Amino acid sequence: MDSTLDRDALHAILDFHVEAGVDLALDETPHNRFAETPPPRVPAAETNLPPALNRPVEKAAPPATSSPRPLPGNPALAPEEAVLLAREQAASAPTLEALEDIFGRFDGCALKFSAKNLAFADGNPAGRVMLVGEAPGADEDRIGKPFMGRAGQLLDKMLAAIGLGRDDVYIANVVPWRPPGNRTPTPQEIAICMPFITRQIALAAPEFLVCLGGPSAQNLLNLKDGILRTRGRWSTYTAEDGRAIRALPTLHPAYLLRQPLQKRLGWRDFQSLRRALDGRD
Ligand code: URA
Repeated sequence: MDSTLDRDALHAILDFHVEAGVDLALDETPHNRFAETPPPRVPAAETNLPPALNRPVEKAAPPATSSPRPLPGNPALAPEEAVLLAREQAASAPTLEALEDIFGRFDGCALKFSAKNLAFADGNPAGRVMLVGEAPGADEDRIGKPFMGRAGQLLDKMLAAIGLGRDDVYIANVVPWRPPGNRTPTPQEIAICMPFITRQIALAAPEFLVCLGGPSAQNLLNLKDGILRTRGRWSTYTAEDGRAIRALPTLHPAYLLRQPLQKRLGWRDFQSLRRALDGRD
């Protein structure tokens, strides 16, 4: 950094970065990732995991340039090992409280190290309805609970419109740590967190599961199509203990804030949820 820059110039640079969406400093020095030597791949057959997760087991060679600093996350764990560890740890939780505690101490997902808090859940775990979003944003990260910001306020209005409040529903996310800059979680980050959200659903044992947005619907309900095609169609989610839960994919409130004309579709889905709660659907 040029030490001759005055205060105004430094402010202008900072403003530029904030406007460009850079709201998090991960490291003090730049790294040339292209200079890293990729380690050999492990054949998919040996890992028994989907190709997307078949990443090298060996640690990458340090960057040729810049002083190496330890990367966040557990550097000893390859992604497929993190998934296996997540499965083992999530399965060991007998209660939601234990699951939150174990998840909070789980080091296999690098998002934990850029997030301020684990946004594990909000609402009432005994509620008939469980809603699962994608990942926390800045407000959720600061407070440590899902759906605390503008999307959460819209969700509250949608729930209120069908006679529900936060005390009637249980709310969680597929990924409980904020991805830097609110980017979509990667398939790898989702795969690592999946054993925890599936355990959370099994332990909460709701009557109805509402998937908010594409990543939640695609990963929990195994839907291949986009959310605009799949929303509003009831299906069955089979919990890991075998229990069948009626499941409804719908549009994410953050999407509805960006596309207000689509609110009527979200409204339709929530009406359908109301009818199901009343035993009319
Ligand atoms: N969007 C989500 O998917 N989850 C939150 O908790 C907040 C916004």
